[in-house]
Amino acid sequence: MEAARLLRSSRYAIVFTGAGVSAESGIPTFRGSGGLWRRYRPEDLATPEAFQRDPELVWKWYSWRIRMVLEAEPNLAHKAIARLEEAGLVKAVITQNVDGLHRRAGSRNVIELHGSILRVRCTRCSYRSILAREPGDIPPRCPMCGGLLRPDVVWFGETLPLGELEKAWNEAAKADLVMVVGTSGVVEPAASIPLAVLSHGGSMINVNPEPNRYTGLADVEARMVATRFFRPLLRELGLAR
Ligand code: APR
Repeated sequence: MEAARLLRSSRYAIVFTGAGVSAESGIPTFRGSGGLWRRYRPEDLATPEAFQRDPELVWKWYSWRIRMVLEAEPNLAHKAIARLEEAGLVKAVITQNVDGLHRRAGSRNVIELHGSILRVRCTRCSYRSILAREPGDIPPRCPMCGGLLRPDVVWFGETLPLGELEKAWNEAAKADLVMVVGTSGVVEPAASIPLAVLSHGGSMINVNPEPNRYTGLADVEARMVATRFFRPLLRELGLAR
């Protein structure tokens, strides 16, 4: 398996994931068949203006997504990526996902570029909190100042958390291999991170059932769902349990 050979011979391999890695955990993707943006308009639900206009509508949508995330379990792809890190074959996971499933699967060096749907923050003071269940009141209010709470995720038009973005660029600068799993690669600046690895001569494995931004650029193009790729990869690397 060429992917196994690339991983074994790499000095510093990183993984870059999108919503597709969580699809087999039952969490819908945004684009492609069945994607959320086929049914909802991002400008109505995932922008600061949408929240300003109708915080209740936005919170109803996020509550529905929080419930799904809390009911979801890491799938074989999340677990395989954690096992590759444990074996020293993967050094970091850079994810666009907000579902926390990489950490729940055991990944340690996880960079969450778009925040976490299980974290809320106050729109007025510095209050932040982790959610154990979806919020009771819609929209939830800050217990410190009574201000509106919002999901601690990056909305369209907002800047990414600078610390996380810097860490991601640093990981890409060190990487000689990037394994891209389950992303359409259309949302910047995140989508340029895997390209940085190619720009300094690194290699790329692209795991996606549909063509995406990286198709044609990758050394290995695995046109399949994530679990179908990782099962034989783990076996070949002697990491299948
Ligand atoms: N395994 C692997 N990939 C899959 C699977 C699967 N089982 N099912 C679907 N996919 C692929 C789809 O073909 C699609 O190309 O996952 C990709 C998901 O792409 P998007 O839905 O665009 O998700 P993503 O690339 O993560 O979106 C980036 O956009 O809406 C914003 O902030 C949101 O972080 C998100 C960003």
